[in-house]
Order: sequence, then structure tokens, then C-alpha cells
Amino acid sequence: MRSHIEAPAAAPAKAKLVQRYFSAIARRYDLANDVLSFGLQRAWKRQAVRCLQLAPGDWVADLCGGTGDLALLAAPRVAPHGRVLLYDFTREMLLLGREKMAAASLAHLIYPIQGDVLRLALPDGSLNGVIVGFGVRNLTDMAQGFREMHRVLKRGGRLVCLEFSHPTPAWFARLYELYSRFLIPAAGRIIAGHAAAYTYLTTSIRAFPTAPELAALLTGLGFTQVSWLPLTRGIAVIHVGVKG
Ligand SMILES: C[S@@+](CC[C@H](N)C(=O)[O-])C[C@H]1O[C@@H](n2cnc3c(N)ncnc32)[C@H](O)[C@@H]1O
Repeated sequence: MRSHIEAPAAAPAKAKLVQRYFSAIARRYDLANDVLSFGLQRAWKRQAVRCLQLAPGDWVADLCGGTGDLALLAAPRVAPHGRVLLYDFTREMLLLGREKMAAASLAHLIYPIQGDVLRLALPDGSLNGVIVGFGVRNLTDMAQGFREMHRVLKRGGRLVCLEFSHPTPAWFARLYELYSRFLIPAAGRIIAGHAAAYTYLTTSIRAFPTAPELAALLTGLGFTQVSWLPLTRGIAVIHVGVKG
């Protein structure tokens, strides 16, 4: 496994690169997700939101929330008095999210915030739940991101992390490797006009910790009852942790 903690000197450059990529692909981001995952990402996201076990009135944050799919799925579960904070540092992604929200009935429960997940502008112990979908892989300091998530959760609050992972068994992993190495960048170029962003996607997935490694990281950072659920033979994994 390559280290998921970047050298400090590389961090600002990586953050800028990530922002540049997501600004460039924002308009085609949702479409590319659906095509590249054969629509599976929608079911993965629904499952992830179920894992939050939200109740009416809860306050929850969708971190690295992008165009707000998870926020939109969470809103009906916290209605009518709860709130969903949609937190992302790429303005273009949030603007696209705002367009989607305009068409949704519970949009008034969702508050978009442009900011860095590594320094959340939220008080300690303020949230019942935190969800992060396909986001932590992009952080320049993933452990710091999880520390912030732990800080802003109330005791008993749940973290749900949905992220790409490493599929099994070996024959399926080899097939997926071919798909991700060759087809994803080509499809990214055709759909979103940006092969480099999709090459970055596949290299960042390969460098990402395995499910047990990520669980160990979360436990080490103070989360309790850490568990994980592989999706579609482990192409994606949901990790859940509770603030004890
Ligand atoms: C792959 S997208 C995921 C979007 C959404 N959660 C989803 O599942 O469709 C990753 C998002 O993370 C955001 N991001 C990456 N690093 C961030 C940081 N340090 N702070 C806030 N947002 C960040 C990017 O701007 C991008 O919108």
C-alpha cells in the first residue's frame, strides 16, 4: 500500500490539482458517474445513506459532497426540522448541486458551504451524522479529514464513508484493473472531456488503503464499532464508525 498521508510539501499542489479537475469536469460529473459505474453508484449511495441511520430532526453533513447526491438522499430522512450541510471546496460542483436542488422539494433543508474538509468551520460535537462519498481519497491528509469528522460529531454520532476499494476475487480484480486502466480514462475523455482527471481517479483508487487498513485507521483515530460493507464484489466499500 502506498502511504495515504502525503508529504506536506505535496499537499497544496494536490489540493489545487483536485480542485482544478473537479472544476473542469463538474458539468459532466453526474453523467460520467452513471455511465462508468453502469448506474451502480446510485444504489451504493442509497445504501450509504441508510447506514447513517438518520432520524427526523438530525443534523448531518455531506462532506466532499460535490453535486449533492448524498445530501439529497439524506434530506427526507431528517425532515422536517433537521438540516443537511453540503460541504465542498469546489465552487463549480456546488453550483451544479444548487441546480439539482432547485428541482427537489426538500432543498430548503440543504445548506451548501464552500470550504475545506480538513478545517471544518463547524463547532465540536454539533452533528448527528457525517457522510463522505468518494471524497477521502482526494484529501491531502486523510487522517486529518477523519479527525475533523470525529471532532464535529456528537457522542453516538455516526460516520459513513463510501469509497472505491479493491475488488475480489483475483479474476474479477484483474478484469476491473483492465477496465480502470484503459476504459475509464478513455470514457472520461469522451464524456467529460478530461482524460487526466479520470487517470487520476484510477491511480488514486489503486493507492487507497484496503478495507481492513481503513478500518484500522478509523479505530486508531477514536471511532468505535467500526465495520465495513463491500459493494459489488468490493469495487466500493462503505465504512461505518461511531463516536464513542
Ligand atoms: C469524487 S467527488 C465526490 C462527490 C460526491 N460526494 C459524490 O459522491 O458524488 C469528490 C469531491 O471532493 C471534493 N474535495 C476534495 N478535497 C476536498 C477538501 N479538502 N475539502 C472539500 N472538498 C474537497 C471535490 O471538490 C469533489 O467535489
